[in-house]
Amino acid sequence: MHYLVTGGAGFVGSHVVLALRDAGHSVVVFDNLSTGHRAALPPDVPLIVGDLSDPARLNTVMEYERFDAVLHFAALSLVADSMRAPFTYLRHNYLNSLHLVELCVRHSIRRFVFSSTAALFGTPEQQPIMEDATVNPGSPYGESKFLIERVLHWAEKIHGLHSACLRYFNAAGSDPSGRAGEDHRPETHLIPLAIDTALGRRPRLSIFGSDYPTPDGTCVRDYIHVTDLARAHLAALEQIGTRSVTYNVGNTTGFSNLEVVRSVERVTGRRIDWCGADRRPGDPAILIAGSERLRRETGWTPHIAALDDIVETAYRWRLAHPDGYAPLPAMQDARVESRPVPAFSVPPVATAMHPPAPS
Ligand code: UFG
Repeated sequence: MHYLVTGGAGFVGSHVVLALRDAGHSVVVFDNLSTGHRAALPPDVPLIVGDLSDPARLNTVMEYERFDAVLHFAALSLVADSMRAPFTYLRHNYLNSLHLVELCVRHSIRRFVFSSTAALFGTPEQQPIMEDATVNPGSPYGESKFLIERVLHWAEKIHGLHSACLRYFNAAGSDPSGRAGEDHRPETHLIPLAIDTALGRRPRLSIFGSDYPTPDGTCVRDYIHVTDLARAHLAALEQIGTRSVTYNVGNTTGFSNLEVVRSVERVTGRRIDWCGADRRPGDPAILIAGSERLRRETGWTPHIAALDDIVETAYRWRLAHPDGYAPLPAMQDARVESRPVPAFSVPPVATAMHPPAPS
């Protein structure tokens, strides 16, 4: 099969590219390299450096190549950033994906795999979170992903585009054979930051929030190894010949932020200097996956489920790549996504509706 992978040079996308190629498929990657890296891809994978906000370019690509399916990863993906810049997130994630889905319909592509998120559940009462749990996004990021799920719902109903929406919990680790790893710039994720702190590359780790309703007061997350997550995409692709599916992808086990710190200390054999800090905007207290539907319908199970084993792969990659991928090429200096997004500066509605009376 021949697949188009948007955002294929990013952390999850690059691991999915490896899994697709290992399974004998051919891929073309479409990525603006705003957060991804050319070096994350095998040298013989075609990379089209382009932006999804440019549908004409994408249209040309789809005219030129006949794709059996599209796997869509390209997105802004930081919950806290989306709390500062909601419209940037909604525009970027929702509108760009809308263009992409429309083009799939126009070019008669019948299958679409979408990188969705656990962030669309908000803070549910019930844990683990089953696939049919109520959707109630707690951030514009989660909302933007849910809007795309709705686009895909209608794309199937009206145009027969079958899709798999994979709601990722916390992707972590790296390719066990060392071919790819995690390199966000700036890094904001807990495991790589804890590893860098253990290695002395950062002075101290801040733990955001200590008063959540969890056993030790810190947030609880379900860490899924990125290679297991990648395998879930292949499993999902096989399901969507004649129907659409929605799966949660996680390990069904939660770890608090402090448990993650202790795991990184065990794996690295070093103490981590950490301190408590304020809560991070938009962070739900607990996200634990109920992935029964994925397991039952596809036979998928995680291969690297223990937290220490997940951390171990991330640690090995970091040791082998202390500076991540090669230095950013010049064009990446102009990236939008990895810069701090400026806060939205228009006053809140209540203030705007009641301007001070002229003196
Ligand atoms: N955290 C810290 N200190 C840090 C970094 C993170 O305490 O320096 C905490 C966060 O506050 C959170 C936990 O570690 O409680 C995990 O945070 P990450 O940034 O590693 O990951 P998130 O849970 O925020 O988000 C990730 C993806 C999202 C996805 C979500 C799904 O980035 O895109 O998992 O669960 F939606």
